Amino acid sequence: MNGQFPATRMRRMRRDGFSRRLMREHRLSSDDLIYPVFVVEGSGVTESVASMPGVFRVSIDKLLGIAEQAQSLGVPALALFPVVGVEGKSEDAAEAWNPEGLVPRAVQALKARFPELGVITDVALDPYTSHGQDGLIDPADPRGYVLNDETLEALAKQALCHAQAGADVVAPSDMMDGRIARIRAELDAAALIHTRILAYSAKYASCFYGPFRDAVGSAGNLGKGNKKTYQMDPANSDEALREVELDIAEGADMFMVKPGLPYLDVIWRVKHELKVPTFAYQVSGEYAMLQAAIANGWLDRRAAILESLVAFKRAGADGILTYSALDAARWLREEA
Ligand code: PBG
Repeated sequence: MNGQFPATRMRRMRRDGFSRRLMREHRLSSDDLIYPVFVVEGSGVTESVASMPGVFRVSIDKLLGIAEQAQSLGVPALALFPVVGVEGKSEDAAEAWNPEGLVPRAVQALKARFPELGVITDVALDPYTSHGQDGLIDPADPRGYVLNDETLEALAKQALCHAQAGADVVAPSDMMDGRIARIRAELDAAALIHTRILAYSAKYASCFYGPFRDAVGSAGNLGKGNKKTYQMDPANSDEALREVELDIAEGADMFMVKPGLPYLDVIWRVKHELKVPTFAYQVSGEYAMLQAAIANGWLDRRAAILESLVAFKRAGADGILTYSALDAARWLREEA
């Protein structure tokens, strides 16, 4: 205080739009966004997902329409998640590396029509296992322990299949140890040196994936099972840094923290301590929470979603996977 007046008035810069704009530290842009899409067999299919209003399971022909929107809104990439019927599920998950499978066909269709749009594929066995786990399970173990090294072989075949179909980025979300090195070796051996690896490095055993498991229909297969023997304990963050360091050493290009908003501190640490391309996944449960409040009229749609997304930028994320990517890109365009 200078006598009876405050020497510094923080409100001065907040008074008008021009000075608020000048001192704004972080900006969300369509360049920051990745749009996840659920893909299903068939044609002309657009099925809504009950727990994720505004999100649909689409067949490949409808996926092309979504890709067109993403491209015209300046969203750099799509992330594909397959919805696999019972006929595609087995103990050994062999459908995961079928070159005629849903994912490789979707990738080929996208790259043929929209060569400039980035295509990211999920590498994990859960859509394809009859038990809904991300890896192969030990038949001799009554608790169904997910086998690490046997799973790596399956993941390598899956990643190679996606890359050969033209995926720009393969994204292992399985949390097996050593998978980045194993996949990188597989890609290099096939001379696929340009395929990027987006490692889900710090993926937590989170309850916020519930609506996603409904969307892809793996919830029923997983039943009362959980993924705590391979996904991380929500109480840890030093461990997240060790996971990212390992994935750096093993040759990943991009590093993901998942879920998003409840883990902003982890995003901050990864970005500021390790200085790598850091991505965040605003997962299905986060989307569902926001949408539920919006549907009740308790939150303003646009304000709530844009505020949630700029928080990721403030925490240090370089990019955000979000089911709100197309909406956000549209609003950002309107504001510009
Ligand atoms: C599967 C996978 C999951 C998500 C992305 N890939 C679910 C899980 O690990 O059970 C969750 C995404 C979301 O909730 O939006 N490996």
